[in-house]
Amino acid sequence: MESGKTKKRILVIEDNIGVQNLYRDILKKHSYEAEILDSVSRAIDALKKTNFDLVILDLQLSGEDGLMFLDSLKSFETAVPPVIVCTGMASIENAVDAMKKGASDFITKPFSVDALISTIERNISINELTRKISEIKMIRSILELNRIIISITDIEDLCTGVVDLVYNLVKPDIALLYFRDDDTGRFFLRRTKGSASDFTPPVVISLSETGSFYRKNSDIVHRIDEKSFEVKLFGRKDIIGILRFYSTEKFDDRELNFLSVFGTQMGIALENAKLLQQLQESYISAIRSLVNSLEAKDAYTKNHSEQVAYYAVAIGKVLGLDHKSLESLRNAAYLHDIGKLGIKDEIILKKTSLSEEELEIIKKHPLITKEILQPLKMRREEIEACLYHHERVNGKGYPEGLSGEKIPLFAKILAVADALSAMISERPYRKKMEIEDAIEELKRNAGQQFDENIVEALIHFVENSRQK
Ligand SMILES: [Fe+2]
Repeated sequence: MESGKTKKRILVIEDNIGVQNLYRDILKKHSYEAEILDSVSRAIDALKKTNFDLVILDLQLSGEDGLMFLDSLKSFETAVPPVIVCTGMASIENAVDAMKKGASDFITKPFSVDALISTIERNISINELTRKISEIKMIRSILELNRIIISITDIEDLCTGVVDLVYNLVKPDIALLYFRDDDTGRFFLRRTKGSASDFTPPVVISLSETGSFYRKNSDIVHRIDEKSFEVKLFGRKDIIGILRFYSTEKFDDRELNFLSVFGTQMGIALENAKLLQQLQESYISAIRSLVNSLEAKDAYTKNHSEQVAYYAVAIGKVLGLDHKSLESLRNAAYLHDIGKLGIKDEIILKKTSLSEEELEIIKKHPLITKEILQPLKMRREEIEACLYHHERVNGKGYPEGLSGEKIPLFAKILAVADALSAMISERPYRKKMEIEDAIEELKRNAGQQFDENIVEALIHFVENSRQK
């Protein structure tokens, strides 16, 4: 042993006084600190009170089966040191049993001093190395969490990122993230990762089930029972979420300590994302009411955006878009013509046909929409959908004359929904069309003005809703 280092502590379970003295001498000589006890129950008590780096267990204790010690270790909540079992040559199968029950290594009696010391050193080093590796993994996870917190502002992405990260770190059977509903104060399941055959996660949990809460580090991680624990996610004032873990394997105490640091960071990050989302939603709803007031000025375009949103989302559903995409599509549909705010009413509200010059001015509205929406940090695909909703698949649209696949999907959907809404609404210069006629018109222009697949999807939706 090198001098100057903290002495390693070894717990020896041995009831033969002669062998006890032998251990005492050898371990002292090799600078180990030894505690020698003669029964399993005393050893378990000592292990609960003190940290040991290694345990040496004699399997032939008088009146006691040494294997009981290994069984008792299974109920420990925290990590246990490696155990070397010591047995006579005649009962080598006991050593095999012990290894199956979790012992790290074995030595046979009578042992040489060299064999004992090299076995001790090997097991302590392996254990330390394993701990170091898991610490490095945890430090990397904390850095990763910081990266996620800084880079993600979308709450759904943040939930996924946080659950993935802690799942990979703690490796439970199942990880669950609950979010507090501000109206009821109850916690609703937002994300799960992993699965467990003997455990069905509750969809809603309430505060009373999760114990009392105090804003102390030690209270962030809370053990529910042997198989599960939870991490409370604190916002600035209150608990905003709960992470629960379920595992048939034992959780490591260092992992739980790291999770208490995580709990605070994750809580603040999720709260920030939630606040940002609320802020964006209120911006969007303010703009929507602006759109409504704009449309209300003109009896002919009243509820146009509402109708475009309805058909765009319907098309999106037929195409199998996910929830987030449908949300983006709805936002874009509401806001696609907001740029008309920047064009004079006398052109927008003109009841007769427009001059070339006036048409050129009208064609600027997608660019003006982009200018209005860009500072709002809306999703890129939402802004692009608005910017390109007048592009045509044959490249003859505006503002950029994009064609075919170069036109973003959401923009192509808006183009069809926008055209349909215009056709089935009354206009100063023509009567409103029946939906069947409008669809015929869209079909005629599919492949030229509109994307054929999108027109198909709209037809699918209209036919399906007719059958209902
Ligand atoms: Fe438009």
